[in-house]
Amino acid sequence: PLVSMRELLDHAAANGYGIPAFNVNNLEQVQAVMEAAKETGAPVILQASAGARKYAGEPFIKHLILAAIEAYPDIPLVMHQDHGQNPDVCRGAIDLGFSSVMMDGSLEADGKTIASYEYNVDVTRKVVDMAHKVGVTVEGELGCLGSLETMKGDKEDGHGTDSTMTREQLLTDPEQAADFVKRTQLDALAIAIGTSHGAYKFTRKPTGDILAIDRVKQIHQRIPNTHLVMHGSSSVPQELLAAIRQYGGDMKETYGVPVEEIQEAIKHGVRKINIDTDIRLAMTAAVRKFLAENPDKFDAREWLKPAREAAKQICKQRYIQFGCEGQA
Ligand code: G3H
Ligand code: 13P
Ligand code: NA
Ligand code: ZN
Repeated sequence: PLVSMRELLDHAAANGYGIPAFNVNNLEQVQAVMEAAKETGAPVILQASAGARKYAGEPFIKHLILAAIEAYPDIPLVMHQDHGQNPDVCRGAIDLGFSSVMMDGSLEADGKTIASYEYNVDVTRKVVDMAHKVGVTVEGELGCLGSLETMKGDKEDGHGTDSTMTREQLLTDPEQAADFVKRTQLDALAIAIGTSHGAYKFTRKPTGDILAIDRVKQIHQRIPNTHLVMHGSSSVPQELLAAIRQYGGDMKETYGVPVEEIQEAIKHGVRKINIDTDIRLAMTAAVRKFLAENPDKFDAREWLKPAREAAKQICKQRYIQFGCEGQA
């Protein structure tokens, strides 16, 4: 059934696990997540970005997710709007039937300019007022996602600012987080700790100077009752990069967020972990391999099947690694 995100995150907090939130924009991705959840007994957060809604069209996004609920009636499922750029986007998602929305007020409505703290409080509070009236959960974001290696935002994949930032802008401040939660009354808080969206997060396996898991602990100590969210949390498996290169792809050396760092963060209040890039890499590697090995095939179902299977395997791994097994 469709459930509220608050309910799932409260359960995750009470039982000490984290829930991967997978970005979806097509049929095979939705099926992959649902099968992975079924096989592991995990709860599901399906999230759609504004880009996903544009790609598939709102009726298709809505009905793909409703189809998942119909096909898997026993699995608790959250339908989440990812990175709402302004309160109108969140209102639109609520009208469409989403049970959870993210108001990303860390940037202004243009999605590029770093917002003032007061702007962020104001838009997030507006969305909380609107959403809570109808039982919808709200995620906000404080601090700007970006790289502590380059001090740049994660504009790369079309999200966020490309401004040069200070270390303080790139790390959520625990005191400000406490004030933010108090003033907005949101349900979940996305924090900046050195992760960024897309495949190119780190030029080396990250250590504490560029991936600030300590900051998670400090924030959790200050606001122990707020569910924390990690964006940009794909692990960018080296074997997927290798497969993509082996079958004609061209991807530079890059590193993601190690699973063991996420597991550490889950011990300190992180309950929702956003993953999109790993699914993209898994599907691309599988399609490249299949078509390279089967140059005579042209039925889309034949190459979408291994892509869907590869996506499912990644989702299963994350469900198990984050402690979701049997929690649904
Ligand atoms: O928030 C970022 C997700 O990776 C979604 O990306 O806007 O390309 O769908 P997208
Ligand atoms: P990745 O690009 O690391 O998968 O992050 C996805 C995300 O944070 C979506 O909001
Ligand atoms: Na989100
Ligand atoms: Zn994100």
